[in-house]
Amino acid sequence: MGDTLGMAAQLAGQSLRFGWFLALNRLVDRRTDALGGKREHVRSDKPVPTLRELFSEQAQLLLADAMAVRDGLYPPSEDEGVAPLRHLSRTRRMFRDLPRAVERRQAGDASSARTEAHAEAVPDYYAQDFHFQTGGYLGAESAKLYDVQVETLFVGAAAPMRRAGLRPIARYMAGRDQRKVTLLDVACGTGRFLRQVRLAYPAMRLKGLDLSRSYLDEARKHMGELRPAQLIMAPAEAMPVPDASVDIVTSIFLFHELPPQVRHAVAAEIARVLRPGGLLVFIDSLQMGDRPGWDGLLESFPRRFHEPYYRHYSIDDLEGIFTAAGLQHEETALPFLSKMMAFRTPVSA
Ligand SMILES: C[S@@+](CC[C@H](N)C(=O)[O-])C[C@H]1O[C@@H](n2cnc3c(N)ncnc32)[C@H](O)[C@@H]1O
Repeated sequence: MGDTLGMAAQLAGQSLRFGWFLALNRLVDRRTDALGGKREHVRSDKPVPTLRELFSEQAQLLLADAMAVRDGLYPPSEDEGVAPLRHLSRTRRMFRDLPRAVERRQAGDASSARTEAHAEAVPDYYAQDFHFQTGGYLGAESAKLYDVQVETLFVGAAAPMRRAGLRPIARYMAGRDQRKVTLLDVACGTGRFLRQVRLAYPAMRLKGLDLSRSYLDEARKHMGELRPAQLIMAPAEAMPVPDASVDIVTSIFLFHELPPQVRHAVAAEIARVLRPGGLLVFIDSLQMGDRPGWDGLLESFPRRFHEPYYRHYSIDDLEGIFTAAGLQHEETALPFLSKMMAFRTPVSA
């Protein structure tokens, strides 16, 4: 029978959340128009989904999320409920930041990250304003605004798309002692997924790695009262993590922001740190052809938001990249706008 009450609570909470972020999404669009920011509905020869299709797929995502709670794969989610006042204050700040972001988008200027502290210490491909965020990934304010901005853009779908990654983890964990399992979240950002994992596995050894000090600070804060994760500031293509020392690696929404050759380097690093029989859970954007009727959406996305490597990502051979690094493909699923893939390292590696 499972936890039907938990399922109902999850579905109700996530539906309310959807309504909230839909309202924010519409308000941001209106404010952007008022600021004279062209939203550039760039025409594409490729097909785009209708709004009805999008909402119906998002409803499927939320239903699957609630069913995972019913089946005990993870507890009901808190998301912004962890710190509702903080969320409201950040929502206000997102609107306050909008004129600067619109101005940069109009000017095609994605260079504010280069003025931040530490900009000299990171690779050039990284020191730019992805999504035209003020300060790119390097600024403290950017780290505070990231989650509300992303959820506003994806109408609340980012958190449930991340949680889809907890399913292969639950299968892997069946019969295992969580105290002996180490999970590393590569490019953990503000720690939203790490907190989800901690709620599901209170005793697991958790590590998060990211190149942004500000985002790691935010991740530390977001773990709140829970047992902390070890947070490491380092590039994913040269991780200060010993060989074969990690049981589960997760990588969420990273690869579309990496230049092609760096994707290969990061895949090799992931394969290096995983133990034999280890699990990689990869989540990122859909790729061209995954949902053929949505290809036009993928084509226009990098034109509206500064995503310099997205176009190549959308046609890259992800399975080929991880297989070449020595991993074995186990499954692929397409939760809404995302692609989730699970790989294992060979047991005899
Ligand atoms: C789109 S965000 C995704 C963050 C998080 N995984 C999530 O689900 O929200 C991309 C993250 O990748 C990090 N990042 C990008 N390139 C990196 C690299 N080469 N090494 C480590 N982190 C990197 C950024 O700092 C940022 O936190």
